[in-house]
Amino acid sequence: MNVHSTVSPAAIPFAIPTSRWDDAEAAGKSPAEFLLYRSNLLGSDLTVTNFGGGNTSAKVIETDPLTGEPVEVLWVKGSGGDIGSMKLDGFATLYLDKLLSLEKHYGGPEDDDKMVGYLPHCTFALNPRAASIDTPLHALLPFAHVDHVHPDAIIALAASSGGEAATRAIWGGRIGWLPWKRPGYTLGVQLRDYVAANPGLEGVMLAGHGIICWGDTAKDCYEHTVRLIADAAEYLNGELAGRPAFGGQIVAPDPDRAAIVADLMPRLRGLMTGARRKLGHWSDDAEALEFVGSADLERLAAIGTSCPDHFLRTKIAPLTLDPARLQDEAYLAEQLDAYRAMYAAYYERCRRADSPAMRDPNPVVVLVPGLGRITFATDKTTARLAGEFYGNAINVMRGAEAIGGYIGLEEQEAFDIEYWLLEEAKLQRMPAPKPLVGRIALVTGGAGGIGAATAARLLADGACVMLADRDAAAVEEVRGGFARQFGKDVVRASVCDVTDEAQVQAAFDGCAREFGGLDILVANAGIASSAPIEETTIALWRKNYDVLADGYFLTVRAAWPLLKRMKDQGGTSVVFIGSKNAVAAATNASAYASAKAAANHLARCLALEGAPDGIRVNTVNPDAVIKGSRIWDGDWRKERAGAYGIDSGAELEAHYRNRSLLKRDVLPEDIAEAVYFLASDGSAKSTGNMINVDAGNAQAFTR
Ligand SMILES: NC(=O)c1ccc[n+]([C@@H]2O[C@H](COP(=O)([O-])OP(=O)(O)OC[C@H]3O[C@@H](n4cnc5c(N)ncnc54)[C@H](O)[C@@H]3O)[C@@H](O)[C@H]2O)c1
Ligand SMILES: [Zn+2]
Repeated sequence: MNVHSTVSPAAIPFAIPTSRWDDAEAAGKSPAEFLLYRSNLLGSDLTVTNFGGGNTSAKVIETDPLTGEPVEVLWVKGSGGDIGSMKLDGFATLYLDKLLSLEKHYGGPEDDDKMVGYLPHCTFALNPRAASIDTPLHALLPFAHVDHVHPDAIIALAASSGGEAATRAIWGGRIGWLPWKRPGYTLGVQLRDYVAANPGLEGVMLAGHGIICWGDTAKDCYEHTVRLIADAAEYLNGELAGRPAFGGQIVAPDPDRAAIVADLMPRLRGLMTGARRKLGHWSDDAEALEFVGSADLERLAAIGTSCPDHFLRTKIAPLTLDPARLQDEAYLAEQLDAYRAMYAAYYERCRRADSPAMRDPNPVVVLVPGLGRITFATDKTTARLAGEFYGNAINVMRGAEAIGGYIGLEEQEAFDIEYWLLEEAKLQRMPAPKPLVGRIALVTGGAGGIGAATAARLLADGACVMLADRDAAAVEEVRGGFARQFGKDVVRASVCDVTDEAQVQAAFDGCAREFGGLDILVANAGIASSAPIEETTIALWRKNYDVLADGYFLTVRAAWPLLKRMKDQGGTSVVFIGSKNAVAAATNASAYASAKAAANHLARCLALEGAPDGIRVNTVNPDAVIKGSRIWDGDWRKERAGAYGIDSGAELEAHYRNRSLLKRDVLPEDIAEAVYFLASDGSAKSTGNMINVDAGNAQAFTR
C-alpha cells in the first residue's frame, strides 16, 4: 500500500446551490401547493438538505369545516418522509390558535415530552398525518413561511468552535445564533423569544443542528434559504482554498481497494452479533477517501457526529481499522468486541431510570484508510443511507475544522435523543421484518425462467439478490425490472459464465462488495440437450458436463468461504436446481441426465461436508417447466417432441401435463416456492434432501 504519499490533494469544496424556482411552474398553485413546490425544490437538491432532513411550513387561511368561518392553519411537514419526495399528504395541518394556546400547559423543559402529546388535539380537518417534534418551531415564529434545513455547509458553522464568529462575519448580525438545544417545545419558545428580542433578524443558526429562516412569500422564503446556504458554502470554500483538508493525506487511496473490500466485508459481517443479520454498503467516493486517508482521521472520528440527523443514522462514533492488520482475524474480532464494549459503556454511563433497553451495539460505520467507508445495517437501504449520512458528517467536519475546531454533540444529549422514549414507542410499533430481510442470495442463471422466478420469490420476502448469468442483455433487463418492482438497493447483476473460474469468483466478489457476503446460493444456470447415445458427440457431452457438473462445482466452491462466515448467525443454505432426469432415466438425453445426476450427488456430498459449518445443501428437481423457460424455446422442445412423436406446440405441453400424476402444468413460480422453502429458516432442520416439483412423476419418487 502507498502510505505517506507526499502530495495531499486540495480540500473538496462545498457545492454552491442556486435557486431552481420556476415562476411558470409555480403559477396558479394554491398556498398549500406553493408550500409543497418549495419543499420539493429544497429537498430534492442534496446541496440544500440531506435525505429526510429539514421541514417547511406555511400559515394559510382555510375554511373551518365545522363553522364555515375562515381560520388560520399551520401546514407543516409531518412526521416521517422526506421533503424532497413528499406529497401534500405529508403535511400535518393544525389550528394555529390552538397551537399557540398550548403554552398554558408548558412549565419548562421537563414538559417537552408532554407537549408532544397535545399536538394531535390541534389537528385541523381530521388530517391523519402526525405532527413532528419540530412543529412548535414553526408555530411559535410569527412569520408566514418558515424553512428549517440542515445542509452540510450550515451544520459546518453550527458545529464549529468558530461558528458563531463566522456567522457574524458572513451575515453581519442578520442571522442570529442560539446555543444547542434538543428539538422540542422549549427550543420553540427560546427561538420565539430570541427573535422578539432581536428585531430585524432574517434567520437563526441553531448550534449543533441547522438553521431556521423565513420569508413573506413562498418564493422569498425559498430563495432566502438557498442564498443563506450559498453564503455559508462560499465562505467555507474561501477558508478551505489552497490547502488540504483534515491535516493532509497520510494514506493514499489503495488501487486494490475493490478486492480488499470484497474480502473484508464478509469477515466483518460474520463477526457482527445479534438476532438480525447485517447488510453492508461500501463507498470509496472522494469525500470518504479524503477523510479516511487524512492525518486527523482518528481524532475527528472519535468526536462522533454532531447533527442529530447524522448520528441517529450512524451511531455515536464510527469504528476505524488499521489497513495493515486486516488479514489478522484476531485483530478484527478484538476491534468489534471493543466497539461493542465501548457502546455498552456509553449506554451504562448515560442511561436514565426509564431508558429503553440497550440497542444493537455493533458499529454502523467502519472506516479504513485507503479503502473508504463501509456501513452495516439490518437492510440495504438503511446501510446505504447511513453511509450517505456519514458522508454529510465528513463534509461538516471539513468545514467546521476550516473555521475553528469541530464540536460533536455532548454525550448525554446524544444519548437522550437516541433513546428518546417517544421514538422508542414508534420503533415498538414497527411491523416485524419480512423473513428474508438481512439475507443475501446469489442466483446463477438468474436471467432465465426458473432463476428469475426464484429471485423474485426471494426478493419478495426481503432478501437482497445478486443475479449471475452469462447473457448480459437478459440479466440487465431482469435486474432493471426487479429494481423497479423491489427497489434499486436490493438487486444487482453480474455477467458470469459459470464454466469460467475467474468469472465465477468475480460474481461472488461483487456480491460481497455490494451486499457484504452471502447466505443463500441457488445454483441454477443450466442448459439441456437431447441426442441418442450414438449421436452424442464428445462436444455435446462436454457442454452438458461443463455447465451442469463443472459449473455447479465452481459456483458452490466459490460460495463456500462466504457461507462459512455465517455459521454463528444461524447458518446458510445452498439450493441446487436438479432435474427429474437426475433421478429417473431419460431416453435420448444421457449427457444431460447423467450430468444432472452428478450435480445432485455433489449436493449430497456437500450436505455432509457443510453441516459442521452450518451450511445446508438441498436440491429441487423440476420437470417439464415449459412456460417461461428459455430451455424450452430452443431445440430441446423439438427434440423432446420428436422423441415422443408429437408436435412441439400445445400438444407437447398437454403431453407433459397428462403424463403427470396430478395432471397439472408446472410453472417457474412452483419451482421458486420450493427453493424459497429450502432457502428459508422454515427448512432449518433439513439438509441432503430433494424436493420434486413435477406435478407427480412415479419414476422420480426418491427412495
Ligand atoms: N425447464 C425445465 O423443464 C427444467 C426441468 C428440469 C431442470 N431444469 C433446470 O432448471 C434450470 C433453469 O432452467 P430454465 O428452465 O429456467 O431455463 P432458462 O434457459 O430459462 O434459464 C437458464 C439460464 O441459465 C443461463 N445460463 C446457461 N448457461 C450458463 C452458463 N454457462 N453460465 C451462466 N449462465 C448460464 C441462461 O443464460 C439462462 O438465463 C437449469 O439448470 C435446468 O437444467 C429445468
Ligand atoms: Zn432539524
